[in-house]
Amino acid sequence: MNPVILNKVAKHYRLDSVDVPALADINLEIHPQRFTVLSGPSGSGKTTLLNLIGCVDRPDSGEIIVAGEPVLALKDDALSDFRARRIGFIFQNFNLLPVLSAYENVEYPLLLNKTPPKQRRERVLSLLDAVGLADRARNRPGQLSGGQRQRVAIARALATEPTLVLADEPTANLDSHTGDAIIQLMRKMQRELKVTFVFSSHDPQVLAEADDVVSIRDGRITEIRRQEDVQ
Ligand SMILES: Nc1ncnc2c1ncn2[C@@H]1O[C@H](COP(=O)(O)OP(=O)(O)OP(=O)(O)O)[C@@H](O)[C@H]1O
Ligand SMILES: [Mg+2]
Repeated sequence: MNPVILNKVAKHYRLDSVDVPALADINLEIHPQRFTVLSGPSGSGKTTLLNLIGCVDRPDSGEIIVAGEPVLALKDDALSDFRARRIGFIFQNFNLLPVLSAYENVEYPLLLNKTPPKQRRERVLSLLDAVGLADRARNRPGQLSGGQRQRVAIARALATEPTLVLADEPTANLDSHTGDAIIQLMRKMQRELKVTFVFSSHDPQVLAEADDVVSIRDGRITEIRRQEDVQ
């Protein structure tokens, strides 16, 4: 398994002809099969960094390598394809499709990547079971609690067996007890499926669970703390 590598990555946004600096001189190696947290105050650049790692957005300069692939060399179509196959996303507001059931939400990425029906069904059922929602498969998001919605989102993010899962403040909309259960679930899934998980968070519960913590301030990495003795 390859690390995620960022070399000299910089990103500005342009807003009404004003340049807004978001990230500068980001040099980072994210180790595979670990639980890495991006920590920093609001506006420090966490979401921007996740979007670059997740191939949702492109930097102004620098190099990004995900799963051995220098992703910035890929054209837009190839990049979308790479993202769909290799990367799972979990969001603060869950981003589930409201008209689809829990089952259908988890199935959706498998329909997009043309997984055959039998395999699709087995995968969805096993993931819903793994996140403790086997008995809620037919519920729509509006008929689930916040914690249950995030469980569906976790199952969906893992559906295509990605090598990398990115979560942007996944517990921010949950109470601390539910948030803790969600973190423990993600930790369990990360270990069992040997996936690389990267989170943004200010939540102390998330920081405590991390293998590696990357601190960001004003668009720059100020500290990288790694636990050397995990796994
Ligand atoms: N689409 C955009 N257009 C212009 N500026 C943006 C855009 N998105 C983010 N920014 C700016 O880039 C900087 C970094 O924003 P980012 O959303 O990455 O921060 P964050 O660390 O995720 O913050 P939060 O904890 O509040 O989610 C901020 O100054 C923000 O105002
Ligand atoms: Mg953010």
